[in-house]
Amino acid sequence: TASVVPHQPSNINDSYVKVLAESSTLQSVPSQFTFAIDSKGSNSDSIPIVDFSQLTSANPDQRSQALRELATVCEEWGFFVLINHGIPETLMKAIIDTSLEFFDLPEEEKRRYEAKSALDPIISGAGSVITTANQRIHMWRDFVKSDVHPEFHCPDKPQSLRDIVFEFSEKSRTMARKLLQGISENLELEEGYMDEVLQLDSCFQKYAVNFYPPCPQPDQAIGIPPHTDYGLLTFLIHNGIAGLQIQHNGEWFNTNSPHNSILVNTGDHLQIFSNGRYKSVKHRAVVNDEATRISVVMVNGAAPDAIVGPAAPLVERDGRALYRPMKFIEYVEKMLSNRLGKGNLECLEI
Ligand code: SIN
Ligand code: FE2
Repeated sequence: TASVVPHQPSNINDSYVKVLAESSTLQSVPSQFTFAIDSKGSNSDSIPIVDFSQLTSANPDQRSQALRELATVCEEWGFFVLINHGIPETLMKAIIDTSLEFFDLPEEEKRRYEAKSALDPIISGAGSVITTANQRIHMWRDFVKSDVHPEFHCPDKPQSLRDIVFEFSEKSRTMARKLLQGISENLELEEGYMDEVLQLDSCFQKYAVNFYPPCPQPDQAIGIPPHTDYGLLTFLIHNGIAGLQIQHNGEWFNTNSPHNSILVNTGDHLQIFSNGRYKSVKHRAVVNDEATRISVVMVNGAAPDAIVGPAAPLVERDGRALYRPMKFIEYVEKMLSNRLGKGNLECLEI
């Protein structure tokens, strides 16, 4: 499959897919969206589950067992369903419901956040991407995104969104730190090494919401084409409608998740930092013809100014570095403005 850079700014002239989907005359996918896809996917039974409460357990046996499971899951899948994570169900529900309300705002309200640059701290819209095969694809989704750490930005409507996103980002950060702590132990790095090198106290976080209205021909359009995420760990929750698929052993897997769980995937920067031990998992969002799907994503990265390269002790162990280092924010900027060249990560390969 061709790779893409799906997180670039929308074309200012693109109209919202929501408006299109709500037009009563729409019976087929307009030609600019056409992207033929076999969206069935293998079933989700085998997707691994990680129990956060065991990973943070005071019982050493339980914790080391959980750590071993985490290591296997990161090596083999780069993707897992996190349960017993401790984020209150009310907050999970509030962020989904309130994020959904954003898309019901009047169009001029949403257009205030139309991107001027991919680096604007808040952007909203719909849009297209260019694949490595040089084909432009309009995605079947509207979106809003904002940088929430180290600087906090958020749309000011709906009114309660700000407080909810702030709380969710704080709690996600704590959770990301604990997962990364486990990953650091699994990589046998000295305590504090990862925190210091990646400057995790000032870690970059982005909140993103994807809105996928029902699509009359789900096999003729794509929500988000196959891609990997920048950053260390991505957290994703949704409104119970399936749509996220991940690539595993060359096959697409559906990712239905138990109620109140969080989907986690490893990103490009963890692949770089681990010197290739943990792969950044390829994923895509498919659409359906029945119900609106919404996903809320929290991308957790290193500090904007941190220089991310393979961890020195791992390079020493492996005898060579697989990637050249690059400042975190520079990678993100280049990726967002589509200047990294094909396949993003590949450009850092040595
Ligand atoms: C994403 O990859 O950013 C979102 C995928 C999804 O909506 O499930
Ligand atoms: Fe993604």
